[in-house]
Amino acid sequence: MPIEVHHVKSKLAVAYQLSHLPETASYIPDTELLHKRSLNRMTRKFDKVYLKPDRGRKSRGVIRIDRMNRGEYKLRQETRTKVVKANELWRTVERLTGDTKYLIQQAVNNVTRGRELRHFDLRCHALRINGVWKVGGICGRLGEKGSVITTSHSGGTPTLLETLFTRHLKYTALERARMVRRLNKVIIHAVRNVSRMYPDLWEFAVDIGIDTRKRIWIFEVNIEPLIRGNFKMLPNKTLYRRIKRMRRLAK
Ligand SMILES: Nc1ncnc2c1ncn2[C@@H]1O[C@H](COP(=O)(O)OP(=O)(O)O)[C@@H](O)[C@H]1O
Ligand SMILES: [Mg+2]
Repeated sequence: MPIEVHHVKSKLAVAYQLSHLPETASYIPDTELLHKRSLNRMTRKFDKVYLKPDRGRKSRGVIRIDRMNRGEYKLRQETRTKVVKANELWRTVERLTGDTKYLIQQAVNNVTRGRELRHFDLRCHALRINGVWKVGGICGRLGEKGSVITTSHSGGTPTLLETLFTRHLKYTALERARMVRRLNKVIIHAVRNVSRMYPDLWEFAVDIGIDTRKRIWIFEVNIEPLIRGNFKMLPNKTLYRRIKRMRRLAK
């Protein structure tokens, strides 16, 4: 399949590309362009889905839909919640999404363990130095209690990977080491392939979810990643400084 070269950010184009490559296909959640038929199909196939603006960032406009009993659906956007009947679902979604191009994606069950279930994900920064893609750092993000997103702009807390894995996911040392190895492999496969769509860019960030069965999922690949709202906010600035150093060498 030919690789299309892109100049603007498109979550859908990236998901489509990665879902057709053997190295990355199994990490891409089921993703489609949002329209009435895909909404019907996806809400029947999955009990939770995310709607995201194709060119969105900072979790703006992200909506989650949960299928409930009695043919009802719960929609959540930021702190707002709305329950609607099946026959009102498309009309409600149309109203919330307006003219913006959206995608619909299978939800990943990315919750922490223990008493307090919180959503989390990983921000994984990668840079190209002398033609070789390297992982600059991985940072955990813990969502606010009750929130379905994790970015710091919406109450999420950037968290050291070690803390996330040990305290919030209860991984053993062996599980931690194994997960970090798997993550590094997935990140490099993803950015190497996305860089064929954006050959001039020398840094990307992959947003990754891990489900309760330790399966790795790629939510999106960011093409102009900032480190202020995540790595800079960690209690330990080692990774932040490391990425800044690597940026000076990257091209
Ligand atoms: N398929 C999904 N399953 C579970 N959570 C998701 C999914 N997609 C997105 N999210 C949550 O929403 C946040 C924003 O989604 P993302 O695709 O990264 O878009 P943005 O460009 O707004 O950052 C993610 O950081 C994650 O917390
Ligand atoms: Mg993101």
